[in-house]
Amino acid sequence: MRLFRKKLKQEHKVMLQAERAGGALLPEYHRPTSECPHPERWHMYDSMTAEAEVLEFLQTLVMTIKPQLVVETGAFLGASTLWIAKGLKANGFGRIVSCEFDPVVYARAKERIAASGLADWVDLRNESSLEMQVEGTIDLFYSDSDMEIRAAEVKRFLPQISSNGVVLIHDASSHLRVVREAAFALEREGLLSCVFLPTPRGMVLAQKREGRQ
Ligand SMILES: C[S@@+](CC[C@H](N)C(=O)[O-])C[C@H]1O[C@@H](n2cnc3c(N)ncnc32)[C@H](O)[C@@H]1O
Repeated sequence: MRLFRKKLKQEHKVMLQAERAGGALLPEYHRPTSECPHPERWHMYDSMTAEAEVLEFLQTLVMTIKPQLVVETGAFLGASTLWIAKGLKANGFGRIVSCEFDPVVYARAKERIAASGLADWVDLRNESSLEMQVEGTIDLFYSDSDMEIRAAEVKRFLPQISSNGVVLIHDASSHLRVVREAAFALEREGLLSCVFLPTPRGMVLAQKREGRQ
């Protein structure tokens, strides 16, 4: 008799792999691109969590621009959420509102955040970025959820993003074409001005066009 194993959802598979790896750093495995020909010079914990260097960049950016309100979409296991929270703690003020759509992944992220000592800085919600309601002006918006909906979530939160604020969109490499194309489209529509950072998975660093002085 053949035994059929239920196919694991990608997020759950990577979550189990990450737990087995126990926080060990690996060389980044995304394929080389013209803008980033040596991805192996970067590091990663797993294929869902942002590159280790990008996690450090998030903390440094938070310490540089000192946001009152950070909104993140797609927490996965909470690694990027916690690096942002570390920056907020170093600043001594601010908060991050993040969302994770998958209830199993959300529960693990919640546990990790509770154990981190940084829970006071984080408001993690089990809901979709396309439904989440956040009050206030957003100083840093980090888009890292499902690649297909990045443009929609940026557009949804754009009216709330400060004209002095920063928008980050992860996974914008030329290999992961869909997010790069979405960022080009947001530029063509006159909504954002983008810089494409040449990292293994690609990161857009952008600002709203409207309201610039
Ligand atoms: C690339 S991972 C996020 C990685 C995380 N930001 C980090 O670097 O540690 C994307 C996550 O977004 C979640 N997701 C997908 N669609 C979503 C949505 N509409 N709203 C919130 N989360 C979503 C997935 O379940 C997945 O865990």
